Amino acid sequence: MTTTRKIILKLGGSVITVKNKPYTPRVKTIKNIAFQLRNLIHEGHIELVGIVVGGGSYGHFTVSEFYGEKNYPYSEALYRITTSMTELALLVSDILAMYNIYTVIFPPHSFCKPRGIKPHCKWDYIDSFLSKNTVPLIYGDIYPCNSEWGFCIVSGDELALEAACHAKATLVVFVTDVDGIYDSEMKLIRKIHIDCLESLIGEAKDVNKGIDVTGGMERKLTAIKKIKCTSLKHIIVVNGLKKDLLYRALKNEDVPLTLIEL
Ligand code: IPE
Repeated sequence: MTTTRKIILKLGGSVITVKNKPYTPRVKTIKNIAFQLRNLIHEGHIELVGIVVGGGSYGHFTVSEFYGEKNYPYSEALYRITTSMTELALLVSDILAMYNIYTVIFPPHSFCKPRGIKPHCKWDYIDSFLSKNTVPLIYGDIYPCNSEWGFCIVSGDELALEAACHAKATLVVFVTDVDGIYDSEMKLIRKIHIDCLESLIGEAKDVNKGIDVTGGMERKLTAIKKIKCTSLKHIIVVNGLKKDLLYRALKNEDVPLTLIEL
């Protein structure tokens, strides 16, 4: 008998976009992920309670332009960054709908008030949509704050973890462009307990980094380490560029990935 796991899925920007080519989505990859998700839902392996979209060559690129030579005025930066992320979220939402996965987009800048790496979103706002079988779609975003630049970034990783706690998900899946978390010798870590993550912070290697304003694997590990959530049992980091790896991973097949036990 299959047990249906309640999951939150974070689509890393490096898997759904070509990270070093501004505004370049990987449409085929997004379609392939949507196809696998549809099968997993139909076969009763997962209940999808949230999708989170990372910045990739949309959000990260636009933010890097603001920090960099273009130096947009603040209002233009806010406009460009929020718009680029909305466009990417809309593209993902449209592709998911082709596979009968219907999402409603919730822009985090309109319902979250982050402090440090805690997003502090009003998750209650989205509950009524979940109960109508639509899947909330959120994304890594920007918000005004008191930093040197006048704005801060809330990463999709932190949003995924907080959303999972609220929705009582048992599993968070980080879909990335690598097979999982690597140690300092570039060996894939297949399984690790959350209490042992500390030793990896500062050691884990980002294999394909590209433009990244939120700190890649390092910030992900820090956010995971800080999570206090009783429903959440596992986190997996899995490669979304390989044909059916996500599907096989969520059917509990033994495929290369990193499993974090909580
Ligand atoms: C970044 O979100 C959002 C912006 C840069 C506006 P993430 O940090 O979750 O993005 P990825 O997955 O690393 O690309």
